Amino acid sequence: MNSIKILDNDSITAVKLLPVVIEITSQERRMIKDAAEHLQKKYGSYENRDFIRHVHQLASYFLPERILNMAADFASDFSKDQYGALIFKGLMDIDQENIGNTPANWQSADYSKFNLYGFACALVHGALPSKPVQYYSQRKGGGLIHAIIPDEKMKETQTGSGSSTDLYVHTEDAFLKHQADFLSFMYVRNEEQVPSTLYSIRSHEVIGENYHPLFEPIYKIPKDANLETGMNEEDTLDSVLYGNKKLPFIRFDAAEQLFSSSIRQSDKAQHYLEEFWEEARHLIYSDFTPQAGDVILVNNHLCAHGRSAFRAGVRHIDGIEHPCERRIMLRMMSKVSLIDMRGHTLTEDPFFVIEEHLGKNFQHF
Ligand code: MLT
Repeated sequence: MNSIKILDNDSITAVKLLPVVIEITSQERRMIKDAAEHLQKKYGSYENRDFIRHVHQLASYFLPERILNMAADFASDFSKDQYGALIFKGLMDIDQENIGNTPANWQSADYSKFNLYGFACALVHGALPSKPVQYYSQRKGGGLIHAIIPDEKMKETQTGSGSSTDLYVHTEDAFLKHQADFLSFMYVRNEEQVPSTLYSIRSHEVIGENYHPLFEPIYKIPKDANLETGMNEEDTLDSVLYGNKKLPFIRFDAAEQLFSSSIRQSDKAQHYLEEFWEEARHLIYSDFTPQAGDVILVNNHLCAHGRSAFRAGVRHIDGIEHPCERRIMLRMMSKVSLIDMRGHTLTEDPFFVIEEHLGKNFQHF
């Protein structure tokens, strides 16, 4: 079998590509807030399909030129220098008082409190340009924004509601053919100071012939921990890398493909996945700890994401534990084309994706 070269520590440092960090100026922040407030008056909710249908024009009209230019470049740059994540520091001021106490879980969240932030996130996707969509495979759809909130009952799980274990890096919905193209994570609060983790396929020095086995469709990619298992699902396989052979895209979920106790990859697939992970795990970036109002924008074909383990509702100051409000993050997902995935969206709502697993739709639609 071919083998994937494992870099020594020195060369890892030398090749490490980092996500771009953009400090939003107070003037830009004001423009974004004014736009969100104006659009809220006009459309009511970011869920309003009239707003979503016009989101590209509205983004061009309302967003600061610098952000528009960066977003346009980001959306079509797949080069060796493109990490696949942009960090916007201070995109919005968050009204913490209005948000109030963090609810027990996402099911009990009051989404009207996130409405303004939903408009701002949708505009950023609109600038890419990419259309906000919802996935039935996630929370039965559950809207264009998902509040990610630690849930005591789910704390051990590899889901957004987990907290006590590291959430391994994964591309979102790796088990779907029509997974989101872009993701945004808006941090409403992160008082526990939980570092986010990012891993870009571009962080590898070169993708040479030794990576070719990762382009073969031999890897099991099960549905994720959010979904009910035991559904008599036949094993479905796909590749980890795809697209251009030298500058590929990636579909990968470390927890589901490598570490899940219920999955049994073939010996060959397991071998290549382990070799790949042995290199990839050293390339994970975890030096960014988002603050309230920061947004991470991710190309879901280039960059995987995760977060470190934490104790929800506890922050450390000078080594002493203090109680704090639990973390809230707002996740939005978008697709560049509604046409390509039309076979997997609701007849009456092309923004609602009903793919269940690698090209197969949920039966009851
Ligand atoms: C996810 O959506 O994968 C996670 O919830 C990310 C996070 O919590 O930072």
